[in-house]
Amino acid sequence: MRTISIINLKGGVGKTVTSINMAYELMQRGSRVLLIDCDKQGNTSKFMKCHNYDKKSLSDVLLGTAGIMEVSVRIRFALIDVVPANMSLLKADRQVLLDTTKPQQSRIRESLEQIQNKYTYCIIDCAPDINISVINALVASDDVMIPVTIDKFAFDGIREILEQIRDVKKYYNPKLEFIGCLVTQYKKSQLCDEGIKLLEEFCGKVLETKINWTQVVSRSTFAGEPISVHSPRCGAAGGYKNLAAEYERRIGR
Ligand SMILES: Nc1ncnc2c1ncn2[C@@H]1O[C@H](COP(=O)(O)OP(=O)(O)OP(=O)(O)O)[C@@H](O)[C@H]1O
Ligand SMILES: [Mg+2]
Repeated sequence: MRTISIINLKGGVGKTVTSINMAYELMQRGSRVLLIDCDKQGNTSKFMKCHNYDKKSLSDVLLGTAGIMEVSVRIRFALIDVVPANMSLLKADRQVLLDTTKPQQSRIRESLEQIQNKYTYCIIDCAPDINISVINALVASDDVMIPVTIDKFAFDGIREILEQIRDVKKYYNPKLEFIGCLVTQYKKSQLCDEGIKLLEEFCGKVLETKINWTQVVSRSTFAGEPISVHSPRCGAAGGYKNLAAEYERRIGR
């Protein structure tokens, strides 16, 4: 199983949309995918219709009160399972920090070690934050990708994330690989293309694939459908297909 974290300190840059659509497109290419919601907002869980407070969630994995297979939910796309999250993650994060009897950063990694052969990929949709659950996601990952929207504030927080990636790589997870920034909500313009060049200079790696801005994306989230199901011919559907292919190419598959 190859694990990738989708992360940015900024909100609204397309982390959740990217996690869901990448999971779907990797599934379409023949993979089994585990999608972990690592955000107390629970947007991935809501999209996948498995957000609730009655069943176990990622909080239980972090607290050690359930294994990942007890928590994961089989959803309507046959080859994708989801580990849901909800607001209890806020409290779970605090409890992890208070409990010094067990390692705090490697709880997701340890639980994933037990299911290495069950899935081809695990995608972790992170919160717009660097908290202990997000650090757990990085420690558990082989790869990390940063979705970015090119605007005046695009670079805010990227330095901090790159630093965090470096620290996690140095102290906890030497195999962690920065796959690159993914430009989302792309609108063709000179300004945007200049922004992408600056981003390349700033962080070293920007993926070839860009995801176009289109209203279809928002409509697909309301419909609870991956973009390529909702509107197969729209640019963003093609974008996420290309992203899945580019990711597999970059990791040598
Ligand atoms: N390519 C796109 N074109 C148009 N709208 C988009 C695109 N990608 C994402 N959006 C819209 O932008 C909003 C934010 O997307 P998303 O929820 O994926 O961001 P996020 O980074 O996960 O946010 P948060 O940090 O709050 O979790 C959503 O309303 C979504 O529909
Ligand atoms: Mg999100």
